[in-house]
Amino acid sequence: MTDTWALFDRLADGYDQVVPFFAEFGARLLDVVQPHPGMRLLDVGSGRGAIAAAAAARGCSVTAVDAAPRMVALLAAAHPEIDVRLMDIHRLDLPDATFDVATAGFVIHLVADPARVLTELRRVLRPGATVALTTPGPGDDRGRWQAFDAIWSDFAARATARSRPAHLDVPPALRAAGFVDVRTVGIAVHLPVSDPQTCWDFHMSHGFAARVEALGPSDAAAFKQRALAELTRMHRSGGIIVDSRATVCLAKSPAS
Ligand SMILES: C[S@@+](CC[C@H](N)C(=O)[O-])C[C@H]1O[C@@H](n2cnc3c(N)ncnc32)[C@H](O)[C@@H]1O
Repeated sequence: MTDTWALFDRLADGYDQVVPFFAEFGARLLDVVQPHPGMRLLDVGSGRGAIAAAAAARGCSVTAVDAAPRMVALLAAAHPEIDVRLMDIHRLDLPDATFDVATAGFVIHLVADPARVLTELRRVLRPGATVALTTPGPGDDRGRWQAFDAIWSDFAARATARSRPAHLDVPPALRAAGFVDVRTVGIAVHLPVSDPQTCWDFHMSHGFAARVEALGPSDAAAFKQRALAELTRMHRSGGIIVDSRATVCLAKSPAS
């Protein structure tokens, strides 16, 4: 199991349960893709089902794959209508030319070999099918990330992981994998958060937790204290709102 899979396995029980950030983005992604009922949709790196569950609710026939066993177990238990599989998306154990749509929400920038994943997606999509991949940003979410990065930089020298996942330029990667009609669409969520502690708990329920874990116990406690002080300042000056943007990269597999 890679560090990434182990991280999401540990996070699975609380993932997207504090603030429904990923579920909201999943719904926005489907608003862009607009899959028809009956379409065969493959969601890779499905997590708790932000996209997969919403697609099933829209009448799609959904296959969801993730490499974190706890994510897979929780999604399968909550949504028996979805075909949920434990799988590394670099090596999809799925037949060629099967799906009408493939989605990946906040996944492609986390994988070891994005080109390999895109080649696999192209293989399992039927000719003319759609692929839609969400990546974070652009934007800084009302300065919250900038504030966290500034605090983190005081600890970075002692951290065992980089501050954020590396940026991946998805459109050229899609073209290199043989996809056509590549385009991007911005999507956004607006989620008020009741108090600083809830906002902290939200951050610790997703990939950001890896950054804090990388600090070690005493620096992590100090980082948390300073982050909570910053969140308290934000709460007092107008409230905390998760105002995030993401980019959906869309493309088609060639018609033949
Ligand atoms: C940030 S979460 C996104 C989950 C979901 N798509 C969402 O929008 O909430 C990334 C997910 O990708 C999964 N993942 C990362 N690398 C993977 C790989 N190589 N194969 C399968 N799943 C992977 C993780 O286990 C995790 O559940």
